[in-house]
Amino acid sequence: MTRQGGPVENASGLGDAFSAQDHVFSKKELLDVGYVPDPSHIVARNEEIRRLATALNPAITGDDPSNVFLYGKTGTGKSLCARYTTNRIVAAASENDVTVGRVIVDCSQENTETRAVRATARGLNDPEETDVTVPESGYGRSRYYSLLWEVLDDRFDVAFVVLDEIDCLDGTDFLMQLSRATEAKKLRHCSVGIVGISNKIKYRDRLEERVKSSLQERELVFTPYDREALREIVRSRLDAFDSGVLSDDAVSECASLAAEEHGDARKAINLLRHTGELAANEGADTITADHVREARTLAERDRVRALLAGATAQQKAALLSVVSLALVEKTRTFKTAEVYAAYEDICADAGLETLSKRRVHDLLREWEFLEVLEIERTGDGRARGSYLQHRLLEDPSVVRSVFDQSDRFAGVGFTSGTVTTTWSNI
Ligand SMILES: Nc1ncnc2c1ncn2[C@@H]1O[C@H](COP(=O)(O)OP(=O)(O)OP(=O)(O)O)[C@@H](O)[C@H]1O
Ligand SMILES: [Mg+2]
Repeated sequence: MTRQGGPVENASGLGDAFSAQDHVFSKKELLDVGYVPDPSHIVARNEEIRRLATALNPAITGDDPSNVFLYGKTGTGKSLCARYTTNRIVAAASENDVTVGRVIVDCSQENTETRAVRATARGLNDPEETDVTVPESGYGRSRYYSLLWEVLDDRFDVAFVVLDEIDCLDGTDFLMQLSRATEAKKLRHCSVGIVGISNKIKYRDRLEERVKSSLQERELVFTPYDREALREIVRSRLDAFDSGVLSDDAVSECASLAAEEHGDARKAINLLRHTGELAANEGADTITADHVREARTLAERDRVRALLAGATAQQKAALLSVVSLALVEKTRTFKTAEVYAAYEDICADAGLETLSKRRVHDLLREWEFLEVLEIERTGDGRARGSYLQHRLLEDPSVVRSVFDQSDRFAGVGFTSGTVTTTWSNI
C-alpha cells in the first residue's frame, strides 16, 4: 500500500529502508538469539549430548537421574544441549508412561534463593492440575519451598531443574535443598535431577564440601568450537537466506573470524545476521566475504563507540595511548613505561592535565575490566624483574576511527614514538 505525500515519502536518501522485501533473507528468525535449532541442526556436540543423556536417562523409567554440571566458555552450546537433551528425555519417558517435568531457571534473573525456588515452583506448576497457585510475590522462602514439594509430588515421577548461569545464584542453599529433598523426606515420590550450567569453569571450586557430597554431580566440559565446527554451525542456518545468496566464501570467513574469537557460536551467528542486514541494505543479491569483514568492523565500531560514550576524557586518553602505540609500532603489547610516555604526549596534545602513573594504571585496569585490554605481569630475565604487559584486544584502527569522530581527540596522537621514561614495576 502506498500513501502519497507522507513525511517518509518526502524524505530523501532512505532508499528501501522501509520496504518489507529484500533479496537476502527468507527466514531471518533462524538467526534470532533465542532461536532453538532443530536437532538435525545441532552440530559437533554428539558426544556431549550422549554423555548428558546417559546421566539423565534413568528418568525414562522413573529412576533417579544423576546431577550434571555443564561448564564451558560462552557460546559453546551448553544451554542448547541442556534444553535439547532434557526435552528428548521428557518425551521418551512419556512414551513409557513416566511423567518427567523440566524447568529452566535463568539464575542471572532469579538470583536469590527465594526467587529461584519461586521460579522453579511456578515453572513446574499447572494450577489446573494441582489446584495450587504459586503467587509471584507475598510469600516467604519456606512457603515457596512447601509449594514446590507439593507441585513436584503431585505432578511428576521425576523433574529436571536446569539452573542456567548458576554462578549468578547467591549461595548454595537451593542446591542443598534440591539435592537432599528425598533424603530429608520433603519429597515422597518425585525425584529431582539438577542440571547446572556455568561459563565460570572454576564455579565448582566455590562449592563447599557438604554441597559437593550431596550433589555427587557429573561434570561435562564444553570446549570452544574450532573453525570446522563453526563453519557447520553457520551452514546449518543457511535456510535463513534466500537460496544461493550466501556464498561459501562468506560462510568460511564468518567461521574464521568467530574461531579467532574464542570459538563462540553465538558470535558467528550474530555476525551472520549483521552481514545479511548489511547486504540487504545495499540491495545486494549475494553475500560475500567482504560483506562479512565489513559487518565485523561495523559491529566492532558500534561496540567501541558505546564504550567510549561512557568514558571520561582521562579514561579515553589512557586508552588512546595504547591504541596509538599499536598503530605506530605494529604490535599489540606494550610495557607500562611505553604506555605512560605515550599518555603524556597525548595529554599535552589534547590539552589535558597529566595524571600520575598510578592513576593511569587504574584507568588502564578499567579498560581491562571492559575487555578492551589485557594486563599481565611478566618476567624479563632475572636482572630486571617482572613488569606489566598491556595487550590491546580491539583492532587499533577501528578504535582510532571512533576517536577521530570525537571533538577532543580527533587527530590527537603522540609525537615522539620513542620511550624516555625508565620506571617500571608499578
Ligand atoms: N552445536 C551447535 N549447533 C548449532 N547451533 C549452535 C550450536 N552451539 C551453539 N549454537 C547456537 O549458538 C548460540 C549460543 O549457544 P548457547 O546459548 O547454547 O551457548 P552457551 O554455551 O549456553 O553460552 P553462554 O555461556 O553465553 O550462555 C545459540 O543461538 C545456539 O543455538
Ligand atoms: Mg547459556
